[in-house]
Amino acid sequence: MSDTPVRPPDRFLVFGAPLIGEAEIDEVVASLRSGWLGTGPKVARFESDFSAYVGAPFVAAVGSCTAALHLSLLALRLEPGAEVITAALTFCATVNAIIHAGATPVLADVDPVTMNLDPESVAAAVTPRTRAILPVHFAGRPCDMDALDELCRRHGLALVEDCAHAIETTYHGRHAGTFGDFGCFSFYVTKNVVTGEGGMVAARDEAHVARIKRLALHGMTADAWKRFSDEGYRHYLVSEAGFKYNMMDLQAALGLHQLARVEETWRRREEVWRRYQEELADLPFDLPADPEPGTRHAYHLYTVLVDEGRAGLTRDDVLGAMTRENIGVGVHYLAIPEHPFYQETYGWRPEEWPRATAIGRRTISLPLSARLTDADVDDVVAALRKVSTRRPGPA
Ligand SMILES: Cc1ncc(COP(=O)(O)O)c(C=O)c1O
Repeated sequence: MSDTPVRPPDRFLVFGAPLIGEAEIDEVVASLRSGWLGTGPKVARFESDFSAYVGAPFVAAVGSCTAALHLSLLALRLEPGAEVITAALTFCATVNAIIHAGATPVLADVDPVTMNLDPESVAAAVTPRTRAILPVHFAGRPCDMDALDELCRRHGLALVEDCAHAIETTYHGRHAGTFGDFGCFSFYVTKNVVTGEGGMVAARDEAHVARIKRLALHGMTADAWKRFSDEGYRHYLVSEAGFKYNMMDLQAALGLHQLARVEETWRRREEVWRRYQEELADLPFDLPADPEPGTRHAYHLYTVLVDEGRAGLTRDDVLGAMTRENIGVGVHYLAIPEHPFYQETYGWRPEEWPRATAIGRRTISLPLSARLTDADVDDVVAALRKVSTRRPGPA
């Protein structure tokens, strides 16, 4: 077998590289030329476009999904000792936001097929101190919102949705992020809509969003961002100690045009996702389940599970081999209880969440971006085929 990699090193396929159009570039340049880079009219337009797209009446643009989660949980005014249940298979930001809001994170296991929060595992984790459930719509596949909603009602719990992967996701005709008290979205560089860094909170309560906007800008009174505008200097008053979590016009300039193309880029990712489903079917990997009826998958991630028995390779062998083929790959995610901080702080052990742990040890994410050409997808498929038919040699 040839040792020539499927792609040459100078054409390394960067995982999650965003598709940035001329409209975004022109809008950013226009912002730069205008002299108004910070929070301003473009953020306001982005908020109103986003609110219309997901069908959420009240939204606040912030600096990241991490900020959106932190502020949403703060807006719940959780008392010390309050518990928030989330998935053992998620990005660390989900859990860290709970901690920074002064609450105690409690993990529930995920379903082995959907990789989403398992309602039975959530039900078993509810205690008299539970105040909220924080589901993550993993990879863009919606969680079982009927079951989670029912649990929230039965126990009087708040619902905060982590929609970092789920801008286009719907469940029984409703957009992810509109089921709970808060939906938190990400516009990080690898996400479905990109602003560089950026996030959005969608909320059903107007007062919550007003407080989140205030907390996102130092706790200053509404519209304080206008204090240096062409209306002349305006005083502001601080009503509580807030954060610096606002979004800039420079970021919204990207987001406005990314959002205008959100359906087009979703369709492209769907095509790539389907090609992977067909063309990888005979390889020694467990492929993702098709979307459930009545739902819309956002196709944010395409993750396969390495079947060590069939492949004769570990997940890390595959990661290394794909990198040598000059294909960028990812891991979403090593389960939360694998990380030393949580083990030391909460005494968590991976075996307590066996399904999240097993996925985290076997999973590998292939490139899935609207920027991929058909030839790029050919290369990913060819590389995975080559890797999985070769046994690891000596180091
Ligand atoms: C599931 C999940 N939650 C939260 C975040 C945090 O998003 P951000 O980078 O916008 O803070 C991410 C980002 O990767 C994520 O994947």
